[in-house]
Amino acid sequence: MSRFLRRKILRGKTFLLVGTLLMVIYLYEYSLDHNAVHLKVGVRRDVNQNEPPTTETTYAFSWTQCRQNMSAANITNFTSLPDNIQNFLYYRHCRHFPMLLDNSGKCRGPNGSSEVFLLLVIKSSPMNYERREVLRKTWAKERLQNGAWIRRIFLSGTVEAGFEKERLNKLLELEHREYNDILQWDFDDSFFNLTLKQILFLQWMEKNCPQAHFLLNGDDDVFANTDNMVEYLQNLQDNNGNKHLFTGHLINNVGPIRYSWSKYFIPVQVHQSDTYPAYCGGGGFLLSGFTAKVIYNMSQSITILPIDDVYMGICLAKAGLRPESHMGVKTAGHSFPSSRVDSYDPCFYKDIILVHRFLPDQMYLMWHRIHDPNLICGV
Ligand SMILES: *[C@@H]1O[C@H](CO)[C@@H](O)[C@H](O)[C@H]1NC(C)=O
Ligand SMILES: *[C@@H]1O[C@H](CO)[C@@H](O)[C@H](O)[C@H]1NC(C)=O
Ligand SMILES: *[C@@H]1O[C@H](CO)[C@@H](O)[C@H](O)[C@H]1NC(C)=O
Ligand SMILES: *[C@@H]1O[C@H](CO)[C@@H](O)[C@H](O)[C@H]1NC(C)=O
Ligand SMILES: *[C@@H]1O[C@H](CO)[C@@H](O)[C@H](O)[C@H]1NC(C)=O
Ligand SMILES: *[C@@H]1O[C@H](CO)[C@@H](O)[C@H](O)[C@H]1NC(C)=O
Repeated sequence: MSRFLRRKILRGKTFLLVGTLLMVIYLYEYSLDHNAVHLKVGVRRDVNQNEPPTTETTYAFSWTQCRQNMSAANITNFTSLPDNIQNFLYYRHCRHFPMLLDNSGKCRGPNGSSEVFLLLVIKSSPMNYERREVLRKTWAKERLQNGAWIRRIFLSGTVEAGFEKERLNKLLELEHREYNDILQWDFDDSFFNLTLKQILFLQWMEKNCPQAHFLLNGDDDVFANTDNMVEYLQNLQDNNGNKHLFTGHLINNVGPIRYSWSKYFIPVQVHQSDTYPAYCGGGGFLLSGFTAKVIYNMSQSITILPIDDVYMGICLAKAGLRPESHMGVKTAGHSFPSSRVDSYDPCFYKDIILVHRFLPDQMYLMWHRIHDPNLICGV
């Protein structure tokens, strides 16, 4: 009897607790919906190189919840556009998102030195755990290469929603605790948000890593020979990053794809002109710290185009700078002398600087094969 009563009371308490929780959630949602500007106290994991990696700092940061631009629906034939384009147009103006993972000490160097020669900036979706793991062990390993520091950072947004989103965020957090190499913002990590990711990084760089000489900006499915990259950059006449450099797989004389079935579909409502300025394929390109700053500066007054590599080209053109072609960058695939040769022959990869695209296992194998002291090439 008393047990029964206690259970009843307990049940009542549970009810009360759940009710209170729902109320709190409701109020929180309410403040999101009805307050343009509000203060959120969040936990941001900022792991400094010089501090123990488990440091958790509580920040009070404020941000303006970005609102859907309802007038976008007035654009000609808006309803006939695919959903992702409509979504893009509604949120095109949004450029500020809270940071979930940060490492503001990344470029301060292991012993307080500030000499980062090459910063590897790799766009990676939270799901791509295996790719990040293999990159950390191979070409993106942080190291002193021929006297020059290579550092690495992955750029990520969030994917999915609810529990799945939380699970993937937790994964990134664990990785970050171990490697200190992830920048994550709370926006949807979709194909059409890659330009946003790029701009958020450039903004971060201006503040946290302005002295890096050069950057490799690329995807997590490329094979990059970072040894060769450092050699190439060191041999430049101006190798301190204070001059313009933007080089990769140069793409000229193309324009927006107007077929609505294409992944790259860009209707006139998004980009009026039928041409794009010259740009470098987004799989991977090299740029100087100077050029990164110029692009960031330009980006502040150029509306977002969802194709990130084209957007870089637009920013360069506006600054009166030109992208260049580098023969060692093969983002459109590597061509081989004949179909009978082994396309994974390490000798084809010894002299290039970047190839698109590699699976994690092939990446791991190739990195080891090109470093084999017994490898003999060119007869
Ligand atoms: C566009 O949309 C807004 C909001 O839906 C509406 O108030 C306005 O009348 C529409 N027309 C123009 C030309 O902005
Ligand atoms: C909202 O969309 C309309 C139509 O494209 C555009 O003219 C306007 O500048 C947009 N507003 C913002 C804040 O981006
Ligand atoms: C809008 O749709 C009409 C009818 O399908 C078409 O004739 C017109 O060219 C379209 N306009 C734009 C700007 O896409
Ligand atoms: C950093 O300092 C530690 C201790 O002084 C030293 O052992 C280590 O080699 C230094 N690392 C570099 C990259 O200079
Ligand atoms: C970009 O991310 C924002 C924030 O999560 C989201 O509202 C928007 O729909 C995304 N845009 C696209 C085109 O996916
Ligand atoms: C940034 O852009 C403004 C014009 O938009 C220009 O006056 C200024 O010199 C630029 N700064 C750099 C560092 O490029």
